[in-house]
Amino acid sequence: MSASPDRPLVPDWLTVPDDANALAQGVWPDAAHRDDRGELVVGGVSASDLRALYGTPLYVLDEDEVRGRARRARAAFDAAAARHGTTAHVYYAGKAFLSTEVVRWVTSEGLAVDVATGGELAVALAAGADPARLGFHGNNKSVAEIARAIAAGVGSIVIDSEIEVERVAAEAERRGIRQSVRLRVTSGVHAETHDFLATAHEDQKFGIALDRAEAVVARIRALPSLDFGGLHCHIGSQIFGVDGFRESAARLLDVHERLLEGGPVRVLNLGGGFGIAYTSVDRPTPIEELAGAIVDAVAGECARRGIPVPVLAFEPGRAIVGPAGVTLYEVGTVKPVRVSDDLTRVYVSVDGGMSDNARPALYGAQYSARIASRVSDADPALVRVVGKHCESGDIVVDAEYLPGDVAPGDLLAVPATGAYCFSLSSNYNYVLRPPVVAVRGGASRVIVRGETIDDLLAHDVGVHDAAQALRFGKDSE
Ligand code: LLP
Repeated sequence: MSASPDRPLVPDWLTVPDDANALAQGVWPDAAHRDDRGELVVGGVSASDLRALYGTPLYVLDEDEVRGRARRARAAFDAAAARHGTTAHVYYAGKAFLSTEVVRWVTSEGLAVDVATGGELAVALAAGADPARLGFHGNNKSVAEIARAIAAGVGSIVIDSEIEVERVAAEAERRGIRQSVRLRVTSGVHAETHDFLATAHEDQKFGIALDRAEAVVARIRALPSLDFGGLHCHIGSQIFGVDGFRESAARLLDVHERLLEGGPVRVLNLGGGFGIAYTSVDRPTPIEELAGAIVDAVAGECARRGIPVPVLAFEPGRAIVGPAGVTLYEVGTVKPVRVSDDLTRVYVSVDGGMSDNARPALYGAQYSARIASRVSDADPALVRVVGKHCESGDIVVDAEYLPGDVAPGDLLAVPATGAYCFSLSSNYNYVLRPPVVAVRGGASRVIVRGETIDDLLAHDVGVHDAAQALRFGKDSE
């Protein structure tokens, strides 16, 4: 077997750990630890208690970690904005993980919420979120979604295309209201985890080109049912540095400055994308540092242009929930596979997989793992954690060192799964979505019920017909 160019036999960042039981700092929820028996404890609840109560696989969400991260983000941007005489709004990007409970946590910590579809909007409203503190995104909002958002009193709608200007205006007019809107533009800046790339032209579906912004804003301003608030831009996700944000802000402010000649421009929304640690080698910039550097850069650009610093808005998703999530699996099979003359990889199969975490299959995302139910001093072995789906790409953790005695029945924990795992989950192979359990102060509770076989069968019309036929059969007896 040979290594594929994008999947080397062993990634070069992965080294044999001194202790294959250690919980790397920053990758796990802050309060996660091992108890006297060596068991993983999250939110004060041990892994085996969680298994006994809810089974596996299981999404575990540490409530204090989510709340703490929301609070920190809010405080960081507030403090940075205050230094420059302005204010900041932090929207939680619900696409990372949305449930009514999480909406309540983040809003009670002072965050607004950004939703990207009618479904996300429905969850935020069901949670009792203040509609005025919701932002509504999407590159192809249906007219029904726009109508629903306007009827609900959504605080701002982010217009993504020229066609949408008229759609939003028509709905607002029909309801006799003036809808606050932002305009999403493309700055040509693309941020990668460690780098950014600035291009003159974009070749992707979101937003409108910066050089069209003035014309589109003029149109928005001419429509009495729309209230133009400012520009919006989102440069990417899982970003570690500030350079991309700085460059993007500078480009946006060129247009922002020109727009000020035609009327007020209150807000500048720089989107989300702040990175987190998935493995022990990832070093994300702390949110306080990011917030300070980005806001300072915006203020510097404004001073250079002699314009007031606008109200700033940000939309972190992953950085709020990602590190708060741990997925628990049970090991089913363990299979040593000789992949070269000098390398054996142990394939550890768990009871979930790409249906509960699509990110490795979709993006080649790297994760880490630990045995959660015990510690072991067995020599570390190179493992690949795989799921139970009928796909060879069904990988949960591409490469990790675990104690070499990892065995069926062990509980395995994968950290940093709070963002874009549950929200990207599927029923591939008719595997059930796991429940989501919140843990806090030694207590646990289900916040999203796990699926049952009945849930799956409920969508299949033929199952109903068959059941009905059976029932009729019975009645006629
Ligand atoms: N704002 C807008 C307009 C966005 O499109 C996104 C993410 C965010 C905010 C939040 O970005 P965050 O802070 O969470 O990075 N499924 C991919 C990520 C897709 C992100 C899409 N937009 C993944 O799992 O990596």
